[in-house]
Amino acid sequence: MTGKIALLPGDGIGPEIMAATVDVINHLANRYNMTLTFVEKPIGGASIDQTGEPLSDDTLQECYQSDAILLGAVGGEQWDNLDHLNKPEAGLLKLRKSLDLFANIRPIKVYETFLTASPLKAEILNEVDFVILRELTGGIYFGEPRGYDQSRGWNTMTYSRSEVERIARLAFKKAQQRNGHLTSVDKANVLECSQFWRSVIGTVHEEFKDVELRNMYVDNAAMQIVRDPAQFDVIVTSNMFGDILSDIGGTITGSLGMLPSASFGKKHALYEPVHGSAPDLAGQNIANPIAMIASVALMFAHTFQMTQAAQIIEEAIKLTLSKGFRTQDIYQKGAKLVSTTEMTAALISQIEHILNEQAIGVFTL
Ligand code: IPM
Ligand code: MN
Repeated sequence: MTGKIALLPGDGIGPEIMAATVDVINHLANRYNMTLTFVEKPIGGASIDQTGEPLSDDTLQECYQSDAILLGAVGGEQWDNLDHLNKPEAGLLKLRKSLDLFANIRPIKVYETFLTASPLKAEILNEVDFVILRELTGGIYFGEPRGYDQSRGWNTMTYSRSEVERIARLAFKKAQQRNGHLTSVDKANVLECSQFWRSVIGTVHEEFKDVELRNMYVDNAAMQIVRDPAQFDVIVTSNMFGDILSDIGGTITGSLGMLPSASFGKKHALYEPVHGSAPDLAGQNIANPIAMIASVALMFAHTFQMTQAAQIIEEAIKLTLSKGFRTQDIYQKGAKLVSTTEMTAALISQIEHILNEQAIGVFTL
């Protein structure tokens, strides 16, 4: 199999976790006889410094021509006072919009080893395993008119029927593949845009009668994710509500630094960690590469249909953690504190171990 992957390391810890990730990909590609080509391009602050804009046409063209895009993270203090259209974050938003990556999937899973690292009590976290499906190319993030002047600032929350329908269909399908429960989150008690969202979700439900649908207001959803997160299976929501809820979801796992995400359009797919660029950790070889590497598992599963390679990465992450390896962000007393490169080496050695056991038939997935 062949494939082309666009690498967009971005800012802060982005380049370090990207280097770690490419090591892991190369190992697996080698073992599976894949021929992968990588093209590395700047995005965000790195791109502003090199080209004057947060996403250049050159980077965008490479993304259009790739089978998958891997992104580190964007942003940093030195670019904070730029106009919002010229900020690093604008590069990411333009990329999502240009490639029409309307569906952002953020799985919220609790690793057993982190039960005690969560701000929530361990008993509340039992059996937490849900996905947030966030609409990514519409809503208040992109609605017009938008702007500000001396006396006011304004944005527009808007969704078209087709925008809600396509994310709704994906959400119902996802629920069918999982436990058959879908929660659609909105603010229909106040916002017309949300009333519309809710009614379209209801119409699409007609096509998926086997899925149990529940509508929930976003303030209640934020509270429920903290109070009883195990009640959720699939959550579908708009761009901004999804942004907020996925940070809450990530935090309760006790390991925001380990959560992967995938964004899909009809033709393109982008994989990136949920966490940010963490400029305070950059350049010290101490960042946690796991979220980015777990995003690669999603890439193998979805872009290359290599479920086994994906499972091997996930299994290797679990094994490495259970052996006590920890970067500083997830350090627990008595564990083995390691650097980015040491964590990567440990993961690769677990991957090798699994592949070797598999070869002699000991390991079954
Ligand atoms: C995210 C981030 C982005 C967003 C920023 C960096 C533009 O917070 O992916 O959750 O708001 O979508
Ligand atoms: Mn966010």
